[in-house]
Order: sequence, then structure tokens, then C-alpha cells
Amino acid sequence: MSKHAERKRPRTRQAFSIFELIDSLATALDVINPAVDAHHKVVCYIAATIAEELGLPRQDYNDLFVAAYLHDIGSLPLAERLRILEFEMKSPLLHAELGYNLLTRFPHISEAPALVRFHHVPWNHGGGNTFRGMPVPRLSHLIHLADRIAVLFDRNKPVFSQVAGIHESIDSFANLLFDPDFVAAFRKVSSREVFWLDLSFGSLDRVLRRMCHLPHVVVNLDDLLAISKFFALVVDCRSRFTATHSGGIAACAAELGRLAGMSRNECKMLKVAGYLHDIGKLSVPNTILEKPGGLTPEEWHVMRAHTYHTRNILGKITGLEEITAWAAEHHETLDGGGYPLHLAGEEISLGSRIVAVSDIFTALSEDRPYRKGFDKEETRENFEKRVTEGKLSPEIVDLLFDNYDVLDGVRRQAQHEEQVKLADFWQAARSGYLTDLEDAAPDRAALAR
Ligand SMILES: [Fe+2]
Ligand SMILES: [Fe+2]
Ligand SMILES: [Fe+2]
Repeated sequence: MSKHAERKRPRTRQAFSIFELIDSLATALDVINPAVDAHHKVVCYIAATIAEELGLPRQDYNDLFVAAYLHDIGSLPLAERLRILEFEMKSPLLHAELGYNLLTRFPHISEAPALVRFHHVPWNHGGGNTFRGMPVPRLSHLIHLADRIAVLFDRNKPVFSQVAGIHESIDSFANLLFDPDFVAAFRKVSSREVFWLDLSFGSLDRVLRRMCHLPHVVVNLDDLLAISKFFALVVDCRSRFTATHSGGIAACAAELGRLAGMSRNECKMLKVAGYLHDIGKLSVPNTILEKPGGLTPEEWHVMRAHTYHTRNILGKITGLEEITAWAAEHHETLDGGGYPLHLAGEEISLGSRIVAVSDIFTALSEDRPYRKGFDKEETRENFEKRVTEGKLSPEIVDLLFDNYDVLDGVRRQAQHEEQVKLADFWQAARSGYLTDLEDAAPDRAALAR
């Protein structure tokens, strides 16, 4: 079995581009509702263009770039409650506070979380320098302005017929909502046609890559693990029913890898893959994720697309190729009947096989809205059927049942830790200055097992 493991030695140190990491996150945000039409990228482009006009120091520019790229990440836990972009108007402080609390857990992005926290605070003739006793970073006001311009601009309408109306609208709120210095810089930027043409016709991906000056960061596997936990938190804070799922798989996959003779580093990579495997589930609405009965054929199509999205999102990150494959192939089966690639036999690597077994084991063990978690015998029956059908690797399944108690203990412990982590996240969000967070937080009793 270890011949798979020996085929390719993983690199233990790797330089990752912060841009690619945040770009993959922004892509994940977009898959929630493609109708948002690249909102984060548009806001980043507008904010960064104004920042260039202002000649911001490099560090400030970089902080702004990251914050603008991810500014509405806090809408994720609210995505099902408020239709797209409604959260901007109906809960501006709530999604900004949740975004801040999420981003403080993302390594290597220094000041960006603070900028996100206040991105809807009105300028209020300079009174917006503070908010409820807290200092507001000036650049939060630039994101606020860029966000409103982005909402006013419709990429599907003729470009220049919109410009006068946008100026009028922004000018009428200068000083009240927006910092007038930033409005003045916007007017200069706006006078150059290329600004609007890039916004309408340019490939924003290419334009933003050119405008990005973020450094590459050298991270080891432990750093990568911290980043993958952040991604998992983003997914897991959406649905109470799968709130600890990624952590369970990560721990189980790492332990199965160890039992299969994989190296320490490869086991860490398996852990990362476990945390990341369901990032594509952001594309699946909670109404489907939490549906108590069976899914309709159409709903199954939506559900099954999640691994495709996992590959697309993680595929943005250079250096993550092997982990991406392990994460995105967890519904491929040895008989070629899995999805979405229909890989078969030797095309499915040891890492992918281990993540697949860990996923099924963790899913069967969890309570779901429509059934209790399986006990050992029920789990064994389910796995034996899949092995008989030629879907799962018998060696990995044997490893699982030869070490069932160890693996079940590892899984339970990891899921308990995830539960504590999620409770901490909501606690931190609540202990801010907002009271309406109670309404958004998942029922903690439902999280407890
Ligand atoms: Fe916002
Ligand atoms: Fe926004
Ligand atoms: Fe999955």
C-alpha cells in the first residue's frame, strides 16, 4: 500500500501566494450565489484603483486589498436568511462584525480584519473616525465607498450612460456617508475611461493579479493546517448539522494515513485535505443541506456538484495540487461510478481513497436531521456493501475496522474540539457590541452531541 505513498514525496515547506489564498476564498464566496457577479472582485478593483490614485503606502495598500477582496465574508453565516446583497442594507453591522471575527482567525493578513469590521460605518462629517468608542481605520471608509459604487454600477448595462448617475448619487452622500477625500480621489479615477472599461470588459482576475502587490509567504505544513482550519470554519459555521464534519474527517484521515504507513508530513497533508474537502459545499443551499427527507433529482445534482466546486476553489492555489486532488476526489469510487470525474481503480490515489473512507465513516457516525448516527455494526454493514460493490478500497476499510475504537475515539475527540471552536467563534462574535447576533448563531444545544 505504501507504494502509493512513496511515489511522490511532499514538500514540507512551500511558498504560497497570499493573493491565491484570498482569491480562492473569494471564489468560494461567489459560488454561494453567482448572481452576486464577482462583487468582491469589483469592490477590490475600485478600492485599489482609488488607493493607487491616493498613493497609499504599500502596507496600507496591501491591507486594503485583502480587506476589500473579502469584505463581505461575514455574510456567509447569514446567506440563507437574507437574499443576496440584502445583508448589505438589512444587517450592515452584523455581517461586518462576523466577517471581522472570521478573519482574525486567518493567518498572515495583519490589519485587514479591522478594516472589514467597520466597512459600513458612515463618515458622518468626520464622526465616523470612531464607532461606539472604537477607533475606525480610515481605510474602512474607502471600502465603504467602493462597495457603494460597486452596487450602483451594473456591468450588464451600457457603461458610460451610468457614470453621471453614479457621480450624482455618491456626491449627494459625500460627507454624510463617505469621506470627501476619498470621493474626490474617486472623481479623478472616474475621469479616466479605462477605469470604467476595465470594470465592464476587463478580466477582473487578470487586472487584480496585476494590481496585487501582496507578498508570497513561506508556510510550513502547520501554517497550512491553520489556514485549512479557517476554510473549514467558513464552511462549518453555516450549517448546524455538519458543523463539526470537516474536523472529524481531517482527524480520521490523518490516523488512517498513519496506519497505512504514510509519513508524518503526508498525514498532515491528509488532515489539510480533510478540512478542505467540502469547501465546495458553499455552493449548496442550506435548504438542501438540511433537508430532512430525501432529495429530488434536481437537488441531488446541486449537492453532487460540490466536489467540482472544491476543485475549482482550491485549484486557484499553486502548490496545493496534491492536497486538492485528495480533497476533491472523495466521491470518486474504484468502480468508476463516482463523481464528477468517474475516476476508476489506480487513477484514485491512496490519499483520495483514505479521504473517501474517512468521509463516509464520519458521515455515518454523525446524527443527521433524519436519522441517528450509526453504531459499529451498522457502519460495518454499510462499508461491507460498498466494498462488495467494488466502490471502496478493501485494504483501507480493513484498516478502519481493525482499529475501529482508536479511529472512533480520534473522530469523537476532533469533533468535540470543533464544537468548542465554533462555540468560541459565536461567543467572540456575540461579545462584541452587537446584540442581534443571538438571532444568527446556530442553536448551541443542537451542536452538542
Ligand atoms: Fe458589506
Ligand atoms: Fe459588499
Ligand atoms: Fe462530500
